[in-house]
Amino acid sequence: VRIPIDRDHATPLYRQVEAALRSGIEAGTLSPGTRLPATRALARELGVSRITVGNAYAELERDGLVEAFIGSGTVVSAVRATARAHGPREWPRWQQQLEVNDPAHRQDEDDAGATLLGRPNVVSFTGVGDLRLLSMRDLGAAIRDVLRHDGVEALGYGDLGAGQPALRIAVARVLAAQGITASADQILVTSGSQQGLALTCQAVLRPGDPVLVEQPTYDHALRLFAHLRCPVVGVPVGDDGMRVDLVEDLVRRHRPKLIYTVPTFQNPTGTCLPAHRRRELLALARRHDLPLVEDDFAGDLRYDGRTQPAIKALDRHGQVIHLGTFAKLLAPGLRIGYLVADGPVLRRLTAQKRALDLTTSPLLQRAVERFVTVGRYQAHLRRTTRIYRLRRDAMMDGLARELPGCVVRRPTGGLFAWVRLPDGISARILARAAAGAGVVIAPGTRFFIEPNDGDGHIRLNFATRTEEEIRDGLARLGRTMTDLIDDNRASIMRSHDR
Ligand SMILES: Cc1ncc(COP(=O)(O)O)c(C=O)c1O
Repeated sequence: VRIPIDRDHATPLYRQVEAALRSGIEAGTLSPGTRLPATRALARELGVSRITVGNAYAELERDGLVEAFIGSGTVVSAVRATARAHGPREWPRWQQQLEVNDPAHRQDEDDAGATLLGRPNVVSFTGVGDLRLLSMRDLGAAIRDVLRHDGVEALGYGDLGAGQPALRIAVARVLAAQGITASADQILVTSGSQQGLALTCQAVLRPGDPVLVEQPTYDHALRLFAHLRCPVVGVPVGDDGMRVDLVEDLVRRHRPKLIYTVPTFQNPTGTCLPAHRRRELLALARRHDLPLVEDDFAGDLRYDGRTQPAIKALDRHGQVIHLGTFAKLLAPGLRIGYLVADGPVLRRLTAQKRALDLTTSPLLQRAVERFVTVGRYQAHLRRTTRIYRLRRDAMMDGLARELPGCVVRRPTGGLFAWVRLPDGISARILARAAAGAGVVIAPGTRFFIEPNDGDGHIRLNFATRTEEEIRDGLARLGRTMTDLIDDNRASIMRSHDR
């Protein structure tokens, strides 16, 4: 492949390589099925680093123009070429408007490696829990049990209110085990906790209302606030979670209309807010008359240290909307979550839920209820906690061994290790290069209001991989990082030579 490279041009080299290949693919001279040269060969031919070529390939892959196969190279995609041939040349004006005004575009970037998920020999440090730990037999038995006992009843809309009564009773029991006293009447079943958050925002926010969040925070929450056109005010996260000591000042300055927090094993930092800070935050929300959304996506996955009370467990005045989910302990694909709230807001949320999607799959609500009620949930929780603890330990050992220049704190629960990279290493570039080595990681850029602020961190999920896979993935990630560091040095030396 002959690619003209202009080293003096402001456009980065990888962009130049990418643009040349892209125009070849779009013009059809690089036809579907064509194998691109190996990164090493093309790098040598062009006199650039392998990482430059790897980044160019990653960009093309992200846009669906090529597909990478571990061990057998990168091939021009067929799917994309066909899709383009059949797609309209110009969309109707109302559709073009949607493109221009879509506020959530920016966060669709930084997904290097997403296309690798599920391929053989790929180690993904993303995701929620390890679905392989869920007994398909037990889940299958729960679904069969529902069909056998409830019959066609299970296939109707069911109760178009707060959710299946039996499931709400079961959730109340799960919550009691976590120290939250809630009756079934205070529980609304939702399609995942993401819907709980969306409903809450729709109930209490108007476009333009600022939201106070931890920074960094859960990327899908940021995406939601962007969609709702609600600006976000970030409170820094310290070693013990949200810096609650900074909140009062930010509230006075920005007048937010809602506080969103993930106090227990926060995503992405894994930090846990101590009890006295939880009390302070609750008192502050009350003083300023602010709804406080507590996202408790992984609160019961504790490996060591003392249990902290849920903020909802401290709430006597209906200040807190507590979000829970079966996504990480059972499966995200079930789309079963719940929220706990009191007072008019609960009535509003229940009416809204019904207006928006009538109900969450009654069949799956019943199946989850069977699964939880027969005690399998608690047994599954105990087993999962034991296994994830070992994986957390394998991750910490592996990081110390394979990525010694990184800084990480040992999370006491949850799913994530939050890793600070050595100075000068970009998380985005590392994520792209790692994808080339068959390792999928989440660059920190995803979790910040201003993505560049997160370019010095990566988030690694230790729960989804076996200890063996963690060791393998970290060894590959370590080698990728060493290559990047060497490459940085070489390019600094080249620029000195010039
Ligand atoms: C902070 C946070 N909230 C919620 C969820 C799960 O959302 P859902 O129940 O909608 O699948 C996750 C999953 O990773 C999460 O990290």
